[in-house]
Amino acid sequence: MKKKALYVGSFDPITNGHLDIIKRASVHYENVVVGIAANNQKNSFFSFEDRKMMLQEVLKDSPNIKVDIFTGLLANYVNENKFDFVIRGLRATMDFEYEIQMAQMNARLYNHNVETIFLMTNPKYSFISSSLIKEVFSLGGDIQGLVPEIVLEHMKKKVTREE
Ligand code: COA
Repeated sequence: MKKKALYVGSFDPITNGHLDIIKRASVHYENVVVGIAANNQKNSFFSFEDRKMMLQEVLKDSPNIKVDIFTGLLANYVNENKFDFVIRGLRATMDFEYEIQMAQMNARLYNHNVETIFLMTNPKYSFISSSLIKEVFSLGGDIQGLVPEIVLEHMKKKVTREE
């Protein structure tokens, strides 16, 4: 049975919403790779290496989950690594239009059979995004419980260093 799945995103930073999707996916697939997309236009808060380090730390007790950084097209990365599934999380109806567009474009670009699987985001986290986390944090708001502890620590350290 085919069981190699990829979960992609910017993860700047990883949130508990992402983590919930990753953990749930890892129950259904033998190998899950969390792929950090290194080429999008978004302003970076954490470097790609820092994001990878934090993801590896929070996932260190999950031997079937690996973390990687990729550049270029998602479809190329999927083709080269022969993933069978691409996992995406859906938070609300607003995600749907963007997701279907991306899934259908990617489907044209895959060179083998790849299914995009959507997991519903846990309602506890359906209102968060990495940008919202950064905004609330930078204005002194409480983000405890919305990101892993290690992320919170690194956000505090980074802001203190930059002050
Ligand atoms: N819990 C909490 N937040 C979540 C979430 C969840 N379950 N799922 C998504 N989010 C957040 C993300 O953190 C992100 O926040 P941000 O916009 O503030 O950074 C936002 O929701 C959107 O998530 P997503 O759609 O996954 O965007 P992304 O920037 O994290 O990832 C890629 C987008 C990497 C998948 C996409 O840009 C890509 O494939 N890039 C490669 C280039 C390519 O192939 N392009 C052509 C595609 S057809």
